[in-house]
Amino acid sequence: MIVTVEIDGGVAVVTIDHPPVNALSQALRQALIETAEALDADPAVEAVVLICAGRTFIAGADLGEFGKPTLAPHLPDVIARIEGARLPWVAAIHGSALGGGLEVALGCHYRIAMPGAKLGLPEVNLGLIPGAGGTVRLPRLIGFEAAVDMVTSGKPVGAGKANALGLVDLLVDGADLRQAAIAFARDIATKPLPPLSRDRVAASPSEAFWKEQAQELGRRYRGQEAPVRALASLRNAAETDFESAMRHERATFLALRDSAEATALRHVFLAERAAPRPQSLEGVRPLPIRKTAVIGGGTMGTGIAAALLDAGLPVVLIERDQAALDHGLATLRNLYRTNVERGRLTESEAEARLAQLDGSTDYDVLSDVDLAIEAVFEKLDVKRAVFTKLQAACRKDAILATNTSYLDPAAIAKGLERPERFLGLHFFSPANVMKLLEIVPTRATSADVLATAFALARQLGKVPVQAGICDGFIGNRILKRYRAGAEALLLEGVSIEAVDAAMRSFGFAMGPFEAQDLGGLDIAFLQREAARANGQAIAETLCDRLVRAGRKGRKTGAGWYDYPDGSSKPQVSSTVGEILALPAGSRNAISHHQIAARLLDAMAEEGRAILEEQIAGSAADIDLVLIHGYGFPRWRGGPMHYAETNGGKGS
Ligand code: NAI
Repeated sequence: MIVTVEIDGGVAVVTIDHPPVNALSQALRQALIETAEALDADPAVEAVVLICAGRTFIAGADLGEFGKPTLAPHLPDVIARIEGARLPWVAAIHGSALGGGLEVALGCHYRIAMPGAKLGLPEVNLGLIPGAGGTVRLPRLIGFEAAVDMVTSGKPVGAGKANALGLVDLLVDGADLRQAAIAFARDIATKPLPPLSRDRVAASPSEAFWKEQAQELGRRYRGQEAPVRALASLRNAAETDFESAMRHERATFLALRDSAEATALRHVFLAERAAPRPQSLEGVRPLPIRKTAVIGGGTMGTGIAAALLDAGLPVVLIERDQAALDHGLATLRNLYRTNVERGRLTESEAEARLAQLDGSTDYDVLSDVDLAIEAVFEKLDVKRAVFTKLQAACRKDAILATNTSYLDPAAIAKGLERPERFLGLHFFSPANVMKLLEIVPTRATSADVLATAFALARQLGKVPVQAGICDGFIGNRILKRYRAGAEALLLEGVSIEAVDAAMRSFGFAMGPFEAQDLGGLDIAFLQREAARANGQAIAETLCDRLVRAGRKGRKTGAGWYDYPDGSSKPQVSSTVGEILALPAGSRNAISHHQIAARLLDAMAEEGRAILEEQIAGSAADIDLVLIHGYGFPRWRGGPMHYAETNGGKGS
């Protein structure tokens, strides 16, 4: 039974038990509407409590019905039935009341919540707007300003804030939600029903407010439809009657369900859910990770250490000498100080995390670590020397990992006594922020070590993607192809700024050239030079020519663009065209759309090669890599999804 009813001294307790998250499936909607009918006809009942079993209130829609035609009874009808009931309904909320779950609670006459509960309408994150009264009932309860914020951001609010907003009538003091709800229901049973949503009035904000919001959303979600449509639905709700507002909202919701944006966001959402639990590792138990080490306290090492500390894991940072160690530890302390200054952490949280950090130049302190992650210079001999020391210092069963970007992990592991304990864990900069983790096993890596890497990713809040071994794994290999495509356009006479503008208008925060200027052109250059020194035939790129001319990007005041007087704003350079002998201006007629199509095609083509070579397990994995490691716009679904839904044409 998904829904059960118990009568407790005149209060009907309706319990939803529909694991894992009490999602609003067709069966649940049916059961709820039938329950509302039956209770209305029961003279012994004076009030109703709606409560959920398990870890949460109704957490949203049923994923099984995602993207499929909607089935009756439809949610707006279920909610209308509850709201129109003869008896007062009290939603008793713990865990999350999200999307349709919050809309059901809004249809109830009262809402009470546990202090840790979260309430929100996250539909815009899936390219949708609320479809069962969210944009109509919520503002009538909490006012338009607060409702606009909740609906257009998609961010849930905590129960305390919900209480202050008037969304929650009572914060439950104590552990027993059910008892508190029954007591509350008994109390209100004798009182008249509060006004229904249709009878509540909320004043429409000023014209200036709506204008400002529309502009802000246009800026923040450039190119996306859902947030703007959510705002339009709220505005409509401010200016028409309840019924018309409900009809307008539902029509928008149904129209958006099949939009390219919703399809893309659904694809990414489902891929993210699948990523941490690959089927190949089903039944394989991860090993416990209680203590960790990071070798190398530079850009990546400190970021990785912060990611581990943030997840509650103790870290020992190892550096090659005391000065470098002091520098690495100071970087971490500064990072946490900034986090406190920006209000991301409290002083005591930051202190607690730093208390878990230790540093040493001596590998002997590593005898009790479960995992050591190496992030030293990108040089095979330096890395191999580090692993020889790690093997001597760490327990036999410790996992040893490399953060290499381009070296072959199997070559790094060569000669290790226990290669089955070794793998690549490729983080992205800044490693405590970027969500992507490429997990790169060698042929020798054991299944439990691989499973541990996936479990670690979950613990760190990362999106893990398994990658095979090739030059650049998944992400950097596609990036290389993307950059080559961008350089090819320049040689055809397209301007640097046109390429960047085209990719920005597609949805990237930055185009390929301004992004390289920010990161520094010398990184990729040095990597190519090292490969050339190793005898690989790698053609000279335009980027190489700029670096040879001393233009390494923003940090040198010049790269693809000029940055005069320390400015961070790219300015078109008058000399780059000459240095690179570009055929300037001959293809200025090419549209942004065509430029983006060329580069997206290039990415998707490389992606297909990566799939054929089984470097990636699925096209969706490639999409996750580009979205979480390289700034590919999430709402476009990733390069593979985009190519597939655009007939492989990228346009
Ligand atoms: P970095 O130059 O900022 O830091 C390297 C650190 O390793 C330095 O602090 C150095 O003192 C230390 N180190 C060198 N030899 C050592 C040894 N024998 N023992 C202990 N410490 C030693 O370099 P970065 O950027 O942090 O890169 C580190 C690794 O991460 C490289 O393999 C790189 O390819 C990879 N990587 C870099 C990314 C980036 O965006 N910078 C992204 C992903 C991976």
